[in-house]
Amino acid sequence: MDALHGLRVLVAGENPKTLDAARSGLAAQGAHPAVCEADPGAVVAAVASDPPDAVLALDGSEDRLRAGLDPLGLMIGPPVVPVLDVVGPRDPFDVTAARRLSALVGLHTLRDRAAELEGVIAAQAVSRRRELDSAQLDGLRRLAVAAEYRDDNTHEHTQRVGHLAALLARSTGLGDRMVWLVREAAPLHDLGKIAIPDSILLKPGQLSDEEFEVVKTHALLGARVLAGADSELLEVAERIVRHHHERWDGTGYPDGLAGEEIPVVARMAAVADVFDVLVHERPYKDSWRVEAAAAEIHKGSGTQFDPAVVEAFDALGPSGWQSDVQFV
Ligand SMILES: [Fe+2]
Ligand SMILES: [Fe+2]
Repeated sequence: MDALHGLRVLVAGENPKTLDAARSGLAAQGAHPAVCEADPGAVVAAVASDPPDAVLALDGSEDRLRAGLDPLGLMIGPPVVPVLDVVGPRDPFDVTAARRLSALVGLHTLRDRAAELEGVIAAQAVSRRRELDSAQLDGLRRLAVAAEYRDDNTHEHTQRVGHLAALLARSTGLGDRMVWLVREAAPLHDLGKIAIPDSILLKPGQLSDEEFEVVKTHALLGARVLAGADSELLEVAERIVRHHHERWDGTGYPDGLAGEEIPVVARMAAVADVFDVLVHERPYKDSWRVEAAAAEIHKGSGTQFDPAVVEAFDALGPSGWQSDVQFV
């Protein structure tokens, strides 16, 4: 008697006789039926003024009614159930039909809930990623400051490298997220110098071969600090830290990677790092003029540097190379 207890059903059809039969069949199973003609405009108006739990479409009108109720196919609105899905062409609307209708409406409701849940989970994932990003960023910036303190003449070097590497990333067409990751991760490139003795790091003049071998360990030492993190930001930082002294021709360190084996973010950091070192004074060298430093970058295209990154460097021009450090 009450398979459809309290269910609000809008019956849409052309034929007054079948409309009437459906209405009394539904009422006999405990539903609250309303009727309307099988015209999409009329159904949309009826649904808007008194939303039903389901629309029962008589006369094969279900596709037109669905198109009227949900023109963009967004799976919104009440389910539109063709009458032939619940009752045979000559059968009465009995308890079996009522159970079928009830099951179809239940299925629709479940789908709605699942879609809502998916939306909620996706929103939570985005907000969680933002929180993680901001916590990791804070830690990363503190590490960058610590790295700066180790190298007295390069307080601003790390930030300038981050800035120029991000400009290169944007110029080569990387997306906003990757540009941001490079901006935040590249300042860490010399993190491993924390472990290099002052006597070597701050030595004026030429390093001996042995001393240079010690300096070279900074790439692996820094990468070890960042290794194993479950975070995109730290992974990008690790790639830059480990590989910023690789060379396009494979003769760099620590892994001797060549060409596109070298992570692209490290290829960008390499150009930014060398250019910035050249145009600023160091304990072992004077600053170079911008034109001379740019010529040195060109000279390294295809041997030390990725030619595509050098092209991106050219596209920036002198105003880009020397633009103010900011978060891009
Ligand atoms: Fe380095
Ligand atoms: Fe550097």
